[in-house]
Amino acid sequence: MMEVLGDFLSAAYPWTKALHVISVIAWMAGLFYLPRLFVYHAERAPEPGELGETFKVMERRLLKFIMNPASVATWVFGLMLVFTPGVIDWSEPWVHLKAALVVAMTAYHHALVRWWMAFDADRNRHSGRFYRLANEVPTLLMIGIVVMVMVRPF
Ligand code: HEM
Repeated sequence: MMEVLGDFLSAAYPWTKALHVISVIAWMAGLFYLPRLFVYHAERAPEPGELGETFKVMERRLLKFIMNPASVATWVFGLMLVFTPGVIDWSEPWVHLKAALVVAMTAYHHALVRWWMAFDADRNRHSGRFYRLANEVPTLLMIGIVVMVMVRPF
């Protein structure tokens, strides 16, 4: 049974990797853009109104139709790569650092969901500056992850 699964994952490997990177790009696009929308929402539409409602629709669609599915797809294809025979050598430290950074990226996604829920209920408590700073987090995590998988410095 495990052997059949291993053979399937080995045969699918190039496709799994392509789908992993495609999902990563879609997820990252949302992780960069949603906090930008929060900046404009916090600064241009702090009180409930027509503009605030427009931001809410943009934010909800980005989160529900792009970011949530893309994050699940990234995890599914990433874990398929983890279980593909011969792909991951757990004795190499970069693997553990990538895993930690990916968990941090997922935690950031969940922070965005909590901030979005506050905006959606007209209860945002943070400034535009706060979301500008928050916007740097996925950039730093992404740089760290790509250096781990491509350069494998250790
Ligand atoms: C969500 C959980 C994730 C898991 C379980 C995971 C796991 C993996 C695995 C096992 C590989 C294969 C490495 C190899 O072929 O040697 C891989 C490749 C890759 N991952 Fe992830 N990954 C995840 C998220 C991410 C994220 C968030 C990014 C970028 C921000 C990312 C970027 C990449 C890239 C660029 C590659 C291709 C590396 C290559 O061509 O060899 N991954 N991932």
